[in-house]
Amino acid sequence: MTVWAPQDLFPQLAGWVANLDDTFPGKPIKDSVYAFAQVEVGHLLALAVLAGTSLLMNLRLIGVGLTEEPPREMYRNLAGWTWAGLIVILVTGLLMGASNGERLYTSEAFTAKMIGLAAAIVLTFAITLPATKNDGRLGPVSRVLGVIGLAIFLFAIWVFLQAKLANPGLWHVITAGGLIVLYASRGLTRVVYLGVMLLMIACQQLITHIVYRPDDFEHLDPVNKGFAWAFVGVILLTAVVQSAGSGRGQENGPFVKGMAFAAILVWIMTAAAGRWLAFA
Ligand code: HEM
Repeated sequence: MTVWAPQDLFPQLAGWVANLDDTFPGKPIKDSVYAFAQVEVGHLLALAVLAGTSLLMNLRLIGVGLTEEPPREMYRNLAGWTWAGLIVILVTGLLMGASNGERLYTSEAFTAKMIGLAAAIVLTFAITLPATKNDGRLGPVSRVLGVIGLAIFLFAIWVFLQAKLANPGLWHVITAGGLIVLYASRGLTRVVYLGVMLLMIACQQLITHIVYRPDDFEHLDPVNKGFAWAFVGVILLTAVVQSAGSGRGQENGPFVKGMAFAAILVWIMTAAAGRWLAFA
């Protein structure tokens, strides 16, 4: 039994959702052979734009990537694209949702995705855009909003982890987060981080492929969930150590760097929940 699907949280909306694909704009999209696929292409192109601008600006705040450019220059070139990506992803998402309402209404992944989206919007507008615009400086209101955005992000991850298995979407986020931290870390921190991650991957493979049989879900499920938490812990710890340590772009300070890491990961988590929707 699920408790985090929209139907569990908002049972009073059942009638409205059931009629969505019988009215505009859900009906013409559902009745067309091509419309859903075309809208979904727009959705994924917008995601590529959003993810690209988020990576470029947040990596610059962390102090890696295009470090020759001042952050305010990146803001000038990319802020408009961030807005465009966000508007297109929301419009196309709502169009697909209107033609497929019942599927979203019964999906825990959709709840995780919408909470992740809220966190992503808060972190983008409270941290990424103002910090790049002001060359890494943030006012007190942005800082408070950033902490609220981070709390919403952690809640979204927790909802994600309530699913029956440590599902594929979760490993996408962990892999992406792990690679970004590997790229952004430096020196001894990077060497130790890589060594620990490789050791953990080897242990996980050994336990889930040799110690337990592939169909022994009773044992595999808690092992995979335990490893998911352990990987998240090591990735976050390394991000904190790297943010607090030295490196180019140090003018930004550990708070902005740590938040910039979170502002990248939150879009990846939201996208992974979107992918999970398509699996379900
Ligand atoms: C109002 C907000 C949104 C709504 C209502 C929405 C709705 C949807 C729907 C209905 C699908 C199709 C699932 C299927 O194939 O049945 C989908 C797919 C997807 N969405 Fe969204 N979405 C929204 C925002 C976002 C955002 C912000 C992201 C990324 C950060 C995102 C990433 C994705 C991805 C990666 C897929 C999977 C495509 C695939 O693998 O087939 N969505 N979304």
